[in-house]
Amino acid sequence: MSMTTGTSEDDLHWKNMYSASSGDLDLKRLEQAYKGWSETYDEDNEQMLYKGPHLAAQKLSKLMPDKSKKILDVACGTGLVGKELHSQGYVNIDGVDLVQDMLTHAEQTGVYSRLEACDVIGQGLSCQDGTYEAIVCVGSFNQGCVTQAVFPELLRVAKKGCIILIVMREAFVYTCPAFKNSQLDTDILMRAQNGIWKYILRETVPKYIGELNGLLYAMVVQ
Ligand SMILES: C[S@@+](CC[C@H](N)C(=O)[O-])C[C@H]1O[C@@H](n2cnc3c(N)ncnc32)[C@H](O)[C@@H]1O
Repeated sequence: MSMTTGTSEDDLHWKNMYSASSGDLDLKRLEQAYKGWSETYDEDNEQMLYKGPHLAAQKLSKLMPDKSKKILDVACGTGLVGKELHSQGYVNIDGVDLVQDMLTHAEQTGVYSRLEACDVIGQGLSCQDGTYEAIVCVGSFNQGCVTQAVFPELLRVAKKGCIILIVMREAFVYTCPAFKNSQLDTDILMRAQNGIWKYILRETVPKYIGELNGLLYAMVVQ
């Protein structure tokens, strides 16, 4: 697939993503789009110089040095994040994703203890309250994909002290209807002001995908 810097308008899969995620959430279209992409997703992202999973794992390693802690990889896709977490030494990683075809690839990585297919916003997870010590969501905060609507469910499954790490394309906070006018930042800040989590990090990360910046948020559940 021809892919360059993540500016992506010429790329078929990204076009599908954008059309699948424009306007109201349409899970069926989103599911179809990722189903069609699952076979070449890893290769395409390598070509696009997608560094989100690596950046996330590196950051978590600094914030949570204990590698035995239980991590949930939200919208784990084919498992790129799990692989990076595993190479940082983490051994207790679960994953969840909407699309079974993506999860089939994640399973083949051999790094996840448990994988679950579900819409993490609409259905929620099957695990008990207070299960996880870290939750990562990488490359999935995007209109029609994962948004701040996921926070209540993440907070439900988070233990006290859980680190929630979100890594996304920086431009999306200005372009996605769900995030723009500082809606994502406001939502994160409000929860910090209400004592739900401690807001520890908002960091621009260069070369998140190709030459494009990423944005990394980290919160600690109180
Ligand atoms: C761009 S991929 C990112 C995958 C992986 N985190 C990575 O960094 O390579 C976005 C993933 O979000 C998943 N997804 C989107 N909406 C979801 C939802 N509501 N619940 C669970 N997964 C979702 C898609 O199926 C897709 O695998």
